[in-house]
Amino acid sequence: MSKKILVINGTVSPEKTSYSIALTKRFIKHYQALNPQDEFIYLDLNKTAMALKTLTVDNFGTFFNAEDTDFYVDQLKNVDKVIISCPMNNFNVSGLVKNYFDHILVADKTFSYKYSKKGDAIGLLPHLKVQILTTQGAPYGWYLWGNHTEYLKGTWEFVGAQVNEPILIAGTKVSPMKELTPEQLIDQYDEQIQKAVKTF
Ligand SMILES: Cc1cc2nc3c(=O)[nH]c(=O)nc-3n(C[C@H](O)[C@H](O)[C@H](O)COP(=O)(O)O)c2cc1C
Repeated sequence: MSKKILVINGTVSPEKTSYSIALTKRFIKHYQALNPQDEFIYLDLNKTAMALKTLTVDNFGTFFNAEDTDFYVDQLKNVDKVIISCPMNNFNVSGLVKNYFDHILVADKTFSYKYSKKGDAIGLLPHLKVQILTTQGAPYGWYLWGNHTEYLKGTWEFVGAQVNEPILIAGTKVSPMKELTPEQLIDQYDEQIQKAVKTF
């Protein structure tokens, strides 16, 4: 049966020079070869009014509205899988992705404490499978005070999703990686991408 896949783009890099977009495209290319019947829905957070809105004291009363929260929560309820790509921006996800989470992480919409026995939250999106595709400028995996890949994994698991092994491309800002085009760098990860596609 055909599945629906939501592809969320959270980078602020232009498409031509973006490593995370090149990674996403390669992942989709391999995925389509194995699952030609599946349907893709593209969500570029740069192009949504929602992801450009930051929660403040002044907009708290209107922030979680039908257009910016319910629409995107329903979108998640109506797809089978999510591919989310995001570079590290100042030790965390981009502001776009944080704004997206601020809109969709809403009690009794995507998680709930109501039926919890031990005081922990129950995720309301257990039907979702998620593939995390991340990049960062620095060559090592993470900072002691920031790991956007783990943040994404924990956040999707919090809403009940099953998260496939994330793919992190670290070191896009240092030599020799930075001398490569995004396509050339992604070539080095091709085997890892193909392996992840098989379990997604
Ligand atoms: C505003 C901004 C903040 C960044 N902060 C970090 C950071 O904290 N740590 C890091 O390793 N790289 C950081 N980078 C580098 C990006 O993660 C890296 O260049 C990434 O590959 C860019 O996104 P792309 O993969 O879509 O091209 C930052 C880049 C930008 C534009």
